[in-house]
Amino acid sequence: MEVKTSLLDNMIGVGDMVLLEPLSEDSFLENLKKRFDHNEIYTYIGSVVISLNPYRSLPIYTPDKVEEYRNRNFYELSPHIYALADEAYRSLRDQDKDQCILITGESGAGKTEASKLVMSYVAAVCGKGQEVNKVKEQLLQSNPVLEAFGNAKTVRNDNSSRFGKYMDIEFDFKGDPLGGVISNYLLEKSRVVKQPRGERNFHIFYQLLSGASDDMLKKLKLERDFSKYNYLSLDSATVSGLDDAANFRTVRNAMQIVGFMEDEMQSVLELVAAVLKLGNLDFKPESRCNGMDESRVKDKNDLKEMCELLGIEQSVLERAFSYRTVEAKMEKVSTTLNVAQAYYARDALAKNLYSRLFSWLVTRINESIRAQAKTRHKVMGVLDIYGFEIFEDNSFEQFIINYCNEKLQQIFIELTLREEQEEYVREGIEWTNIEYFNNAVICDLIENNQNGILAMLDEECLRPGTVTDETFLDKLNTICAEHQHFESRLNKNSKFLNDHSLPHNCFRIQHYAGKVLYRVEGFVDKNNDLLYRDLSQAMYKANHSLIKQLFPEGNPAKVNLKRPPTAGFQFRASVGTLMGNLQTKNPNYIRCIKPNDKKAAHIFTDSLVRHQVRYLGLMENVRVRRAGYAFRQAYEPCLERYKMLCKNTWPHWKGPARQGVEVLMTDLQVPAEEFAYGRSKIFIRNPRTLFFLEEKRKQCLEDLATLIQKIYRGWKCRSHFLLLKKSEIVVAAWYRRYAQQKKYQKIKHSTTVVQSYTRGWQARKLLRELKYQKKCEEAVTTIAAFWHGTQARRELRKLKEEARNKHAVSVIWAGWQGTKARRELRRLKEEARRKHAVAVIWAYWQGLKVRREYRKFFRANAGRKIYNFTIQRIMQKYFLGLKSNLPSMSPIDKSWPARPYSFLEGVHAELRRIFHLWRCKKYRSQFTEEKKAVYEEKLEASELFKDKKALYPSSVSQTFKGDYLEMVKNPKYQKLSSAIDEKILLADVVNKINRANGKSSPRLFLLTKKSVILADQKTGQVKTSLPLPDLSSVSTSTQSDGFFALKLKEVRRKWFEVYLFF
Ligand SMILES: Nc1ncnc2c1ncn2[C@@H]1O[C@H](COP(=O)(O)OP(=O)(O)OP(=O)(O)O)[C@@H](O)[C@H]1O
Ligand SMILES: [Mg+2]
Repeated sequence: MEVKTSLLDNMIGVGDMVLLEPLSEDSFLENLKKRFDHNEIYTYIGSVVISLNPYRSLPIYTPDKVEEYRNRNFYELSPHIYALADEAYRSLRDQDKDQCILITGESGAGKTEASKLVMSYVAAVCGKGQEVNKVKEQLLQSNPVLEAFGNAKTVRNDNSSRFGKYMDIEFDFKGDPLGGVISNYLLEKSRVVKQPRGERNFHIFYQLLSGASDDMLKKLKLERDFSKYNYLSLDSATVSGLDDAANFRTVRNAMQIVGFMEDEMQSVLELVAAVLKLGNLDFKPESRCNGMDESRVKDKNDLKEMCELLGIEQSVLERAFSYRTVEAKMEKVSTTLNVAQAYYARDALAKNLYSRLFSWLVTRINESIRAQAKTRHKVMGVLDIYGFEIFEDNSFEQFIINYCNEKLQQIFIELTLREEQEEYVREGIEWTNIEYFNNAVICDLIENNQNGILAMLDEECLRPGTVTDETFLDKLNTICAEHQHFESRLNKNSKFLNDHSLPHNCFRIQHYAGKVLYRVEGFVDKNNDLLYRDLSQAMYKANHSLIKQLFPEGNPAKVNLKRPPTAGFQFRASVGTLMGNLQTKNPNYIRCIKPNDKKAAHIFTDSLVRHQVRYLGLMENVRVRRAGYAFRQAYEPCLERYKMLCKNTWPHWKGPARQGVEVLMTDLQVPAEEFAYGRSKIFIRNPRTLFFLEEKRKQCLEDLATLIQKIYRGWKCRSHFLLLKKSEIVVAAWYRRYAQQKKYQKIKHSTTVVQSYTRGWQARKLLRELKYQKKCEEAVTTIAAFWHGTQARRELRKLKEEARNKHAVSVIWAGWQGTKARRELRRLKEEARRKHAVAVIWAYWQGLKVRREYRKFFRANAGRKIYNFTIQRIMQKYFLGLKSNLPSMSPIDKSWPARPYSFLEGVHAELRRIFHLWRCKKYRSQFTEEKKAVYEEKLEASELFKDKKALYPSSVSQTFKGDYLEMVKNPKYQKLSSAIDEKILLADVVNKINRANGKSSPRLFLLTKKSVILADQKTGQVKTSLPLPDLSSVSTSTQSDGFFALKLKEVRRKWFEVYLFF
């Protein structure tokens, strides 16, 4: 079951100031303090959230808390910033209404933290997914980057935003973030060159010097020592609890996530380094002939390094610090700058450089986080802007900031009233006019186009002639003197002539939040925000893409003689745009309050909070909210909450909720003027009525609690008694059962014993009888057995006697038969032995007879004859076998039959040789005479070339022709052949190699018995004739080519060698 809670439950003090009773500043403060002491830092004024800075981390921003506040109505739970964020987000997602969250408060009150909490809550509850998460991460990570460059430690806040920020987060129809756009307002650039005591410059300078690697610092020509840089104040360079080095890494990481390229980050850091270097420039005066002093850069090392960093020509920048060119009506006049002006120019350049870099960063972040989709977006704007500032010494910046707050207050009142009015109309309730202070008159005093303070300041800045802050104040005095919110002492008719709290060089404005005294000093200068054109042109000439982008007005091609818009004008314009933007959206307010000046937890300084409550106009806020009806609630939750106050509605009301509420109110007799019935809500005019209802409800709840308690107790006792009764019966039943069981078991046991005894006795008796019977039977059996045994033994003996007689007979018969058989066997063996002896003797006798008869013949011839015969037979067989197995007649046939007997080895080899010679002879005998000659030549060639020249095997099959050119037949060579009177042995075309250049030329090669002739191939003319005796040798190569060389004897020195080839 869902537990219905309400803002009104467990309230510490009052959760909604609208319900404060009685309403006074004291009770307001007391309520805030009470809640603050109980760690309740959030309190509502209707739908406005007041946030007190706890200065310590409270466990109220956990994921569980996010879940708790998710999709709950605004007043359902105790006040929390998440309730506001959830309301805004749901109204954007479900009702398609653009939202803006306006966070105001003084420095250190927790605006930036609040804006981050809202963003993180929305990021936690909106859709998820890879793309959506990337967008969320980029939006969240834009914060550390902007904080590094735009925040600084001040006496009021260690992480004070020195710029105003408005961020539009864009969502698609599902409520998933698509991207965002950031607008920045008025960076406090004066901080770059000078910081008040106890404060320091923008974080990035310290982060860079502490967190950058040695290598990076070297590249940026920086040293890790704050004291080396004039622009960094030293008294609070390090802030406890702030780790600059770690933050530097966080910032670089955030820049990467947001989408900065590595070279972009490097350029940004180069600019930061350049600002530091710029601060170190010193100037000295140098006298000129006209008696004027001209400034010169003192130590040029820093200037040189800075110019190297930014790619600026040193001489150009140096000159820009010594001269100033003024252009007027096509004329250029160059004037010198004195040392003070040079310092002014230096600081102006540093401020401009840094503030333009900051604006560039915002633009660059916007490029990355801009929504890609073209579909219609819903927008949630988060405005984290400086709150109202009232210092002792208020200058141009405070004037501008307070002007912005006036405008915000104006739209706050307008929108709150409008919302209130719209709700009344929606609910059909009559609208009664609400009395409130309208600060439009103060806004008009500042921004009126004709005689507003800003317009006059601009007029003064643009006016020719001497313009000072005093002339500006004079002008104000004449024009605004009559204004009821403007106070000044200088005006002769002024009613403040004797007001000593108002110094002469100041004016005072009665803002909606209180009076603020402004010192005019610096107004004109700051409004002008001048940077000498020479400097912007020097910057434009830089060989550094980022610097060039930052100073577009330095482009000589686009010289614009018109003055740039003043700071006041620009701010007014951007505030105008912002207001226009906010007015189209549904506003949600977070008013931040700083509880003490010590940045400490648990301390609630009354005076400080009172001051803020005043200038934030919170009382005004409550009054406006209460002017109509203080409290409103939808009928259903109202009936649900108070239905117990009336018998008719308790415990259930069957009809419509509105009727139920009407019955309830009538029954409670609430005066009719105290409430009104809207269409869906009941409106309660006075908190007293609400508290009356609450009190009644509390009482009723107590009664109900008592009743419930009573009924519960009765029910509890009764059920306890019934339980006891029921238990008693159960116990008795169990006991009876148990007793009966025991008794039964006893009887059963006795019966069993008696039974067993009887049975035992009977059994024993029976056993005895049986035993006797058995003994008798055994005796009879024994007697019978003995008698049968005697009988059997007698019979056995008789049988045995018979058997023994039979056996003796057969043994005697067998013995007789055996003797007879052995005798017969001996006789037969004797007979056989005798026969064998006779045969052997006969054979011996026969052999003896034969040997005696043939001995004389055999000894003379038979042995050799038998030997010869045997050999003859073997040879005969061998030859016949060889004859039938002879190999072919081819001389190259290598086969030969195998040798049959080893003693024939010699013969066999010889026969093979003879056969081969015979075969060769037979082969040769077929040759003709010519063929014979050819073979002889081949033989000779084989002796010369075989195994010596690779070409030889392929030449064996070719016949040697000699006259390959057919000299005699060929008419072309007839003349040549006739010139040679010898027989030509060889004629062919060869290529002669020229020894000088290795080129070859064709020649006719002729060989006779006496000489070698080389002739021209074409003409046939003899070129060389070498007698053979002049040749010492002929060499050929061993390879498969046609090369050969003729080597000549010493006589033909010139021709020592001739190289030829076919
Ligand atoms: N809700 C919170 N819980 C815990 N600490 C907080 C909370 N809000 C603010 N603080 C603390 O207060 C400090 C100042 O808050 P923050 O920077 O938001 O102030 P600010 O209003 O933005 O001031 P400025 O106008 O100078 O930028 C924070 O650094 C943080 O330590
Ligand atoms: Mg801030």
